[in-house]
Amino acid sequence: MKDRLTPLTIPSRKGRLAIVTGASSGIGRATARALGLAGADVVLAVRNPDKGEQVAEQLRAEHPEGTHTVARLDTADLEAVRTFADAYVGRRIDMLVLNAGIGGTRRREVTPQNHELVMATNYFGHFVLTALLVDSLRAASRARVVTLGSIAARAGRLRFDDLDLERRWSRAQAYANSKLAMIMFARELQRHSTAGDWGLNAHAAHPGWAVTGMMPGGDRGVPQLLGGATRVMQSAGDGAQPVVFCAASRQAAAGGYYGPIGMFGVAGPVGRAPLPRQARSAAALTALWQATEKVTGVEFPR
Ligand SMILES: NC(=O)c1ccc[n+]([C@@H]2O[C@H](COP(=O)([O-])OP(=O)(O)OC[C@H]3O[C@@H](n4cnc5c(N)ncnc54)[C@H](OP(=O)(O)O)[C@@H]3O)[C@@H](O)[C@H]2O)c1
Repeated sequence: MKDRLTPLTIPSRKGRLAIVTGASSGIGRATARALGLAGADVVLAVRNPDKGEQVAEQLRAEHPEGTHTVARLDTADLEAVRTFADAYVGRRIDMLVLNAGIGGTRRREVTPQNHELVMATNYFGHFVLTALLVDSLRAASRARVVTLGSIAARAGRLRFDDLDLERRWSRAQAYANSKLAMIMFARELQRHSTAGDWGLNAHAAHPGWAVTGMMPGGDRGVPQLLGGATRVMQSAGDGAQPVVFCAASRQAAAGGYYGPIGMFGVAGPVGRAPLPRQARSAAALTALWQATEKVTGVEFPR
């Protein structure tokens, strides 16, 4: 699908290091492309390095002004997250885009650490990754952390004593909860950064409804399967605009949630997105942070 929006204008990111998780497809690939075009050194953090290398080659061919390299990261496996993060000890990270995600599983599945797979892939792995990289983010000047939310987050209902949905699981609830958690994570991370003078800005972004590998039939099958619906959907490039805006624009407000502002938020140019109810409660933000530290066993610095 072709891009319809006017391309975003962002400042040069030359000499800046960006890590984009799940950059082998869809929104992550488009984000890595846009940041590379702005001159950033972009690490494609992917679970399948061969697929990542193919994407990196395409991006290098298209935009020689950025560098795109590939590193293995499986966000569903906290040991793999730790191995990935170890490589950045003592380095400076300017942009961390927490994009990797899955839409769901047919039945409840668990990870090597016994976490529910959708929550682990979309949220726990990213929470732990950020905690382990926080010193590298603090070493940069105003680093950005961007989490991926979704319109689906409105249906999220997080129970802080059952983040892994052991008591009652459904595919839709697991996805909605994971995306709500990502929005709440960005807001609470911003609060901690401000209180602790960490000097990093956190944002949440959602792509509206974009044609990517997450749609039925994948990014090639969607137009056939959904027919007229594709008229309201947008390309991965346009869907990535709120993410790129949060990662690089001077206009992005710290702690803000951004998404497309046209047609019920499914498409259009970037603007403020409405926050789901739980994400507006300061008590809920803190409760989620504490519960996540408890279930993952990884704490942010005090
Ligand atoms: N498309 C939309 O309309 C939409 C709407 C709302 C939110 N989002 C969010 O946008 C983000 C990107 O999704 P997308 O739409 O671009 O879908 P996509 O094309 O399927 O991309 C998902 C990416 O995440 C990667 N990934 C999945 N599990 C992983 C794991 N365990 N470790 C590391 N990487 C993993 C995938 O890797 P492989 O290439 O190896 O599969 C792929 O690169 C997600 O967080 C999603 O929730 C998308």
